[in-house]
Amino acid sequence: MPTHGGDAVDLEAMSALERYKFLTATVVPRPIALVTTMNAEGLVNAAPFSQFIILSASPAILGIVSGRHPDGTKDTHSNILTRREYVINIVSEDMAQLTQDCAFPFRPEIGEPAHLRIATAPSRIVSVPAIADSPVAFECRLSRTENFGDTATLIAGVVVAVSCRPGLVQGHRVDHAALRPLGRIAGRAYCRTGDVITMAEACDAPFSGLARG
Ligand SMILES: Cc1cc2nc3c(=O)[nH]c(=O)nc-3n(C[C@H](O)[C@H](O)[C@H](O)COP(=O)(O)O)c2cc1C
Repeated sequence: MPTHGGDAVDLEAMSALERYKFLTATVVPRPIALVTTMNAEGLVNAAPFSQFIILSASPAILGIVSGRHPDGTKDTHSNILTRREYVINIVSEDMAQLTQDCAFPFRPEIGEPAHLRIATAPSRIVSVPAIADSPVAFECRLSRTENFGDTATLIAGVVVAVSCRPGLVQGHRVDHAALRPLGRIAGRAYCRTGDVITMAEACDAPFSGLARG
């Protein structure tokens, strides 16, 4: 059986950091969850997570993956375990710099929204506020966490409420041109999603009679 034919990449020969960089530079583009959390004292934290996935639609369960800081668990992860509530804020293009700024490894006693003057707004159900300018805010309750490998933890949260910027959503349909979601490439490189291509529907002659059911 012929192999793929490309250059073999030896993941085992890489350091853990190189492997992380390689994987996050090839599994692209990724959506970004700007996650707001609150510590036991009520300090609001915000940090971006691009290892971000829809785990289930019914019920709605969203997942983020938190790695470990060199000095331990990330504030987002600790706060979620403490309060069991958090908000996943979707990031639009105009939020790119504040998203990058929120990734700075601030000491735990520094709350990014207050320090960086990012406005927050009360959520509908959870005690943790949302980012005021975010186009979509998913209020989440911790469902469970699962560790993978040496340093990664999947944090799964059930969505208990959603708020969208006025005019963005009609029923279940989302105006993507208005949403202008930001994607992550790698490092400090991001992408816009303005250049959309739409395929022909795969239902005509070559496919007729081949659909299941
Ligand atoms: C766009 C972007 C996406 C990121 N995605 C992740 C991620 O998926 N998982 C992760 O552990 N760290 C990720 N980081 C790094 C964290 O945001 C960073 O470690 C941050 O300091 C964590 O903050 P906290 O300690 O307040 O939770 C990302 C950084 C950026 C800029």
